[in-house]
Amino acid sequence: MNVYAPKIFAPNTYKEQTFNLHGLDGISDAQITEHLTLYAGYVKQVNALNEELAGMIGRGQASAKSPEFGDLTRHLGFEYNGMILHECYFSNLRPAADPKPASGSGLAAALADSFGSVEQWQAAFQAIGTMRGIGWVILFQDPTTEWLTNHWISLHQEGVPAGFKPLLVMDVWEHAFMRDYHATERGKYIEAFFRNIDWRTVESRLVEASAVRLVS
Ligand SMILES: [Fe+2]
Repeated sequence: MNVYAPKIFAPNTYKEQTFNLHGLDGISDAQITEHLTLYAGYVKQVNALNEELAGMIGRGQASAKSPEFGDLTRHLGFEYNGMILHECYFSNLRPAADPKPASGSGLAAALADSFGSVEQWQAAFQAIGTMRGIGWVILFQDPTTEWLTNHWISLHQEGVPAGFKPLLVMDVWEHAFMRDYHATERGKYIEAFFRNIDWRTVESRLVEASAVRLVS
C-alpha cells in the first residue's frame, strides 16, 4: 500500500555576485561598498524565503488561509527584484566608461528608432530619474516588438513589464547616492551614473534573446 509522504525538497539558492567597480567617476568606492552590502542582504533574503516556503509546501502547509504562507509569498517579488535589479545595476557600470553608445552600434540605432535620437532618449531617461519618490529607472526592450521604453519602477516589483528585457538599470533610491551627495543632489548622481555606464553591457543585453543574468 502506498502511503503518501510529503516530500521536503531543496529550493534553489542564489550566490552573491561580485563586481569590480573601484574607481568610478563621481560614485565613490565607499558608496559602492555600502550599496553592495545592501544587495547582499537581498540575496540572503531570497534564499531564506525560498527555504521557508519550500518547508511549508513540503509539510502541506501551503494555504491561502495561512497568514505566514501569504506574507512570505507576497514578499518574494520585492526580494527577488531587489536582488535582480541590483545585479543589473552594478553590471551596467564600469570604470573608464565610454561617454555614450558607439555611433553606428545596434544600441544607438535602437534608441534612435524608439526615441528619435540617443539624446532624446537620454533626456527622457534622466527626467524620469529626477521624479519625486524612490525607485528605479529602467530602459526595457519588448522582445516581441523590439521597441524600447523607459519605465519608472517604484519599490522593486511594481511597474516591471512582464517578460520585457532590462537593458539599462539606474537605481535612484537615496541609498544609491547619499554617501556622495545630498538628498537634493540626485541630479548630480544621475550625471555621474551616466559617466560610468558600460555601454557594451547594455548592447549585449540588447542582442541576447532573453534577459541576461549573472551566474557564478
Ligand atoms: Fe539600491
